[in-house]
Amino acid sequence: MRRIHPAHSSEDVELSSLYAYPDQPWLRVNMVASADGATWFKGLSGGLSSKADRRVFGVLRGLADVVLAGAATVRTEGYGPARPRESWRPLRTDRPPAPPIAVVTRRLDLDLGGPLFTDADPRARTIVITCDAAPADRRAAAAELADVVVAGDDRVDMERAVGALRERGLTRILCEGGPRLNGQLAAAGQIDELCLTISPMMVGGGAARVLNGPAGQIGLRLVHILEEDGYLFTRYLKGEM
Ligand SMILES: NC(=O)c1ccc[n+]([C@@H]2O[C@H](COP(=O)([O-])OP(=O)(O)OC[C@H]3O[C@@H](n4cnc5c(N)ncnc54)[C@H](OP(=O)(O)O)[C@@H]3O)[C@@H](O)[C@H]2O)c1
Repeated sequence: MRRIHPAHSSEDVELSSLYAYPDQPWLRVNMVASADGATWFKGLSGGLSSKADRRVFGVLRGLADVVLAGAATVRTEGYGPARPRESWRPLRTDRPPAPPIAVVTRRLDLDLGGPLFTDADPRARTIVITCDAAPADRRAAAAELADVVVAGDDRVDMERAVGALRERGLTRILCEGGPRLNGQLAAAGQIDELCLTISPMMVGGGAARVLNGPAGQIGLRLVHILEEDGYLFTRYLKGEM
């Protein structure tokens, strides 16, 4: 992988330094999109990804205190708990070996018998972020296996959800989408950073873009662009318009 912006002669980039979190509560969104803006192909993100993208994805998880995802992403992408990696060890001193997954859901239509709930490390139990309107029986069932956070009445309020994670000491938040969750986080002013992989393909179809929510302009400041096999790895911070 090489860094093409800011210009850099070496091919040897240190991903964990390039993606280090700033020393303040922070919410980073990491997504992959095709060159024509689609965030899924045939319903999944996998067809847009690459070996290098999976490497970046892994490093970003290793750096995070918690991985936040919408329930549709958890269901369609078959989320399990994040699996610890040897390379994460130096990144996670004084933290559990892998970050917990926090799922945002109203319906709580989640596979409570699946690995996300049955296989999570007790130090990184899965977190379910839901609202008062969620079915009470499912909430009770989820509470047997996961930490349930109620952060809203009819829907999860994104500011409250992010605040609840921070109250637990989970201040380095990595949001892995999907677009509907991203759209609400953006509308609530909660996104500090966007890490976007642009894959060298166009796919057409009706896939959502990175934000699927109300229209609004959020200025971004480009931090870097890395490249491998034609895939671009961009990092933007929220900036001025
Ligand atoms: N390209 C990428 O990097 C990438 C990354 C992630 C996902 N994806 C793709 O994106 C698609 C899924 O994304 P999506 O945008 O459709 O859905 P999503 O954002 O992953 O999840 C939407 C779901 O989250 C819950 N939710 C969202 N906001 C809520 C709120 N305010 N209160 C309560 N619950 C809330 C609801 O769950 P309930 O229905 O359970 O109530 C809702 O159905 C998949 O095809 C996936 O493959 C792509």
